[in-house]
Amino acid sequence: MSDSLASPLVLPCGAIIKNRFGKAPLTEGLADELNRATARHAELYGRWADGGSGVVVTGNVQVDRRYLERPGNVVIDGPQDEAALTALRAYAAAGTAKRTHLWMQLNHPGRQTPRRVCDKPVAPSAVPLALPEVAFAHPRAMTGDEVTDVIERFTHAALVAQQTGFTGVQVHAAHGYLLSQFLTPLVNKRDDEWGGSLEDRARLLLSVVRSIRAACGAEFPISVKLNSSDFQNGGFSSQDCLTVVQWLEEAGIDHLEISGGNYEEPSMMGSKNTEGDTVADSTVRREAYFLTYAEEIRKVTSLPLMVTGGFRTRAGMEEALASGVLDMIGLGRPMCVETDTPNKLLGGADACGAWEKQIRPAKAGLGWFCLALINHGEGKDPDTAMTGEDAMKRFMANEEATAAALVGR
Ligand SMILES: Cc1cc2nc3c(=O)[nH]c(=O)nc-3n(C[C@H](O)[C@H](O)[C@H](O)COP(=O)(O)O)c2cc1C
Repeated sequence: MSDSLASPLVLPCGAIIKNRFGKAPLTEGLADELNRATARHAELYGRWADGGSGVVVTGNVQVDRRYLERPGNVVIDGPQDEAALTALRAYAAAGTAKRTHLWMQLNHPGRQTPRRVCDKPVAPSAVPLALPEVAFAHPRAMTGDEVTDVIERFTHAALVAQQTGFTGVQVHAAHGYLLSQFLTPLVNKRDDEWGGSLEDRARLLLSVVRSIRAACGAEFPISVKLNSSDFQNGGFSSQDCLTVVQWLEEAGIDHLEISGGNYEEPSMMGSKNTEGDTVADSTVRREAYFLTYAEEIRKVTSLPLMVTGGFRTRAGMEEALASGVLDMIGLGRPMCVETDTPNKLLGGADACGAWEKQIRPAKAGLGWFCLALINHGEGKDPDTAMTGEDAMKRFMANEEATAAALVGR
């Protein structure tokens, strides 16, 4: 049993997290044809709550049904019907068992909405993704009114989360989605108050945070997921990150999850080694992708920090916590298979995610992990014998079928 991993954490808002594990947000694709939560969410989140994580952050929930991250997203973008509210309450009840904090991740994908669900995406400016146009359509620039509407949408969704029993929210400002697009000069070429200097590019994110705080009150945990860097020349840099972190602290957030990259540069999955890999004398720097960036972030803020990406060994996690660089260990892919990974590590297991090596080819991994979550939601176990290639084919078929079944769009 590790004392450091088992020790509670008090957030600035007063909320107490029972240990140092955070289940990272993982898109589930389990919503119904009206993008409402389902019993499958309650099943999956009940498993995670049983699994011992102090915080469970949900997969990204969209604030605008015109712009989905994938067809099976939960959407909260207006008055919720009774069935939607009932499903959200059951989902929250299951996910908060065992004193688990359950935070809803809120998102708008901007230009990273797939063509299969949207052929007219929006972005800060009309800059397309450097990815096949068959997958992502050319975006148009948002009007000023559309930008301010985004603030209201995030705030409304946060209020619904609070009212249905979620114990906090996380604003997704990482991985190249809309708020992250506003932060980078490569996509934000606006000349109004939402673009230009870093202060102007960060205005939307900070406005969203302040508006949620005003609506949900001082005691409601607000987390932000932010890139340590986009890892693109001329993009949101590690220096920009340090400045934005200080503004976020002033705006009164409670928790910061550090990640990196976007669809063009998927560093969040470890596709590209950050400089941490060159440091040979430390287990933790070799395994966690963003640790060297977190060290710099720690110097400018006392915010509770969760670093996500690559953590697999208990020794690495303990070393990172003991160093004081971070306060929580974010776990993504390990939680897709073993939903009780935190309990196993707290009980003395040395590592997690050993089966990840079986997934070949590695590039097909995303589909594999998504199918694992669907299996949990259906009350089954993941099919660890499935190859990455098979998983990707089945995943694509699932996405097509889910998109075809959507109604009211
Ligand atoms: C299947 C899957 C779904 C994901 N969905 C989200 C998401 O909805 N929101 C988000 O911020 N990150 C998402 N991520 C990224 C993870 O939160 C995490 O940053 C990444 O998996 C790296 O952590 P790991 O090495 O522990 O897996 C997803 C990752 C996977 C594998």
